[in-house]
Amino acid sequence: MKGNYVLGIEGTAWNLSAAIVDEKNVVIEKTATYKPRAGGIHPREAAQHHASHITALLKNVLCYASENNITLDAVAFAQGPGLGPCLRITATAARTISLSCNIPLIGVNHCIAHIEVGIWKTEAEDPVTLYVSGANSQVLAYRGKKYRIFGETMDIGIGNALDKFARAAGLEHPGGPKIEKLARSATHYVQLPYTVKGMDFSFSGLTTACMESLKNGELLPDVCYSFQETAFAMLVEVTERAVAHTGKKEVLLAGGVGANKRLVSMLQIMCDERGIDFYAPEKRYMGDNGTMIAHLGYLQYKAGDTTPIEKSAVNPNFRPDEVTITWKHPQHRQ
Ligand code: ATP
Ligand code: FE2
Repeated sequence: MKGNYVLGIEGTAWNLSAAIVDEKNVVIEKTATYKPRAGGIHPREAAQHHASHITALLKNVLCYASENNITLDAVAFAQGPGLGPCLRITATAARTISLSCNIPLIGVNHCIAHIEVGIWKTEAEDPVTLYVSGANSQVLAYRGKKYRIFGETMDIGIGNALDKFARAAGLEHPGGPKIEKLARSATHYVQLPYTVKGMDFSFSGLTTACMESLKNGELLPDVCYSFQETAFAMLVEVTERAVAHTGKKEVLLAGGVGANKRLVSMLQIMCDERGIDFYAPEKRYMGDNGTMIAHLGYLQYKAGDTTPIEKSAVNPNFRPDEVTITWKHPQHRQ
């Protein structure tokens, strides 16, 4: 088949996923999800999960490619951030495919992949992005060849904060969706700490305060509702200030917590009030997925931005603002 095809492999945490994309479409995506037996994600168990599923998963995707006469032009993998043991499994697989198929290897930044798939799958062009997942919470925008971080969490990501509280309340992992559901039957707001310092925010005090409220007799739906209202107000405030500061006319929501309808509606209200556009891709492109890695790999491949094997070591703390943007977007004219 004509065109360029890039394989992308994601496995930074709970989700192992591989996809092939071309310029416009997702050709195939296959996923194997790790579910902790108890408690939260255990890095070594997650890595073992990925190690035991990756061969079958890649075989599936590569067989589909060969049956449909698709020749891969490059293979991309998430170089970080993420859990070290998990990152090493997918990096090893990507290096092996690169060497055996003699195609370029492309290490991509997982956070930027969340942003780029959002831009690809919506009409956003040059947004301020609110990226909210388990481990990460950041407000980013493009300026001077980089995705700059305008604000971020000073401790844990909002997803992990929700999951931690949910576990303490006896809910199963992942807690975010369960908290969203319970919040709908709340009757009142429980006072909680609101922590925004400059452009940064913090969530661990909020989680502790929620646990305390439960111990003091507040009902779970009320605490879930109050947690969401407080945490999301903090995120929306910083996003709005980044919009005011940069003068950008779009907001994009990215990351697994973006599935939350209350967060979506709060961002929509803020954007409507400012007369700017709000974009959120469909749910499958919010949480971790192979497509986002393949798509960013595609953009980097087209820009000639590939990764020599000797520079392909994983980086669990890989920050998005370390990456120089080599690929083209309308905003890159600035
Ligand atoms: P990253 O490596 O980018 O930090 P991740 O491994 O945390 O990603 P994601 O799929 O981006 O994975 O996000 C998972 C998080 O999203 C979990 O903490 C989960 O509780 C949260 N989440 C999922 N759905 C909802 C929802 N409806 N409301 C709130 N949180 C949600
Ligand atoms: Fe993610």
